Amino acid sequence: MKKGMMATLIFILMFALVGCGSSTEKTATTEKKITVVTDAAFAPFEYMDKGEIVGFDVDLLKAVMKEAGLAYELKNIGWDPLFAAIQGKTADMAVSGITINDDRKQTYDFSIPYFESTHMILVKEGSSIKSAKDLQGKVVGVQNGTTGQEAVEKILGKENKNIKKFENTVVAIMDLLNGGVEAVVTDNAVANEYVKNNPDAKIVAFEDPEHFESEFYGFMFPKGSELKQKVDEALKKVIENGTYTEIYKKWFGTEPNIESLQQ
Ligand code: ARG
Repeated sequence: MKKGMMATLIFILMFALVGCGSSTEKTATTEKKITVVTDAAFAPFEYMDKGEIVGFDVDLLKAVMKEAGLAYELKNIGWDPLFAAIQGKTADMAVSGITINDDRKQTYDFSIPYFESTHMILVKEGSSIKSAKDLQGKVVGVQNGTTGQEAVEKILGKENKNIKKFENTVVAIMDLLNGGVEAVVTDNAVANEYVKNNPDAKIVAFEDPEHFESEFYGFMFPKGSELKQKVDEALKKVIENGTYTEIYKKWFGTEPNIESLQQ
């Protein structure tokens, strides 16, 4: 009799354990992780450090997803593939210092803006290029499919063979060092970061407000994505509660101009 009861108890216990196990597994699999894609060759926004994707965008994404209560996975897939992944809906969201503009808005949805940017020209020290106009007749490097490319096309003309397009910004700057291009046009924070981190490279960066307009970065989604609203709400909170300022200070060492984002 006793033995029988023990067996029944053990049986019940085992059943409960197995049942428990499978039910937690179920919640884990039904709670789908959001796939976020990036091109991690754009310091200080996203870049690889000891095998990890780090940067301002990465910290901001983390804060926003925590605020929204969303589980996610960040994948470094490259710039052109990132647009294809969002358009083909194989990814749910992209963060990559992506400028919000009318052209892209036809194909993608964007969050509210989170960073103000403009373009800068990188040249070797002592270069004769002192303004955007001086780029005429020169071989200029840009990252393919960026607003930097558009900015240069406005000055040199769209079909100009002197515009050299690179897969990412790091290789464009490498080509400047090697003398393949005479200038690189990229986002100001990225240009400044390169100069700061590479004092021996003898590269200088300058702005030309007459030719380069201000633009804003946003998180990018497939058109009609339900994520946009959740992310916008969380991003607003993160900006309002000071988390954004903390992250900004960590990466840029100065106070952000939050009002410029809210216009
Ligand atoms: N802001 C520019 C654009 O949207 C360049 C962004 C490049 N970002 C990157 N992670 N490579 O076109």
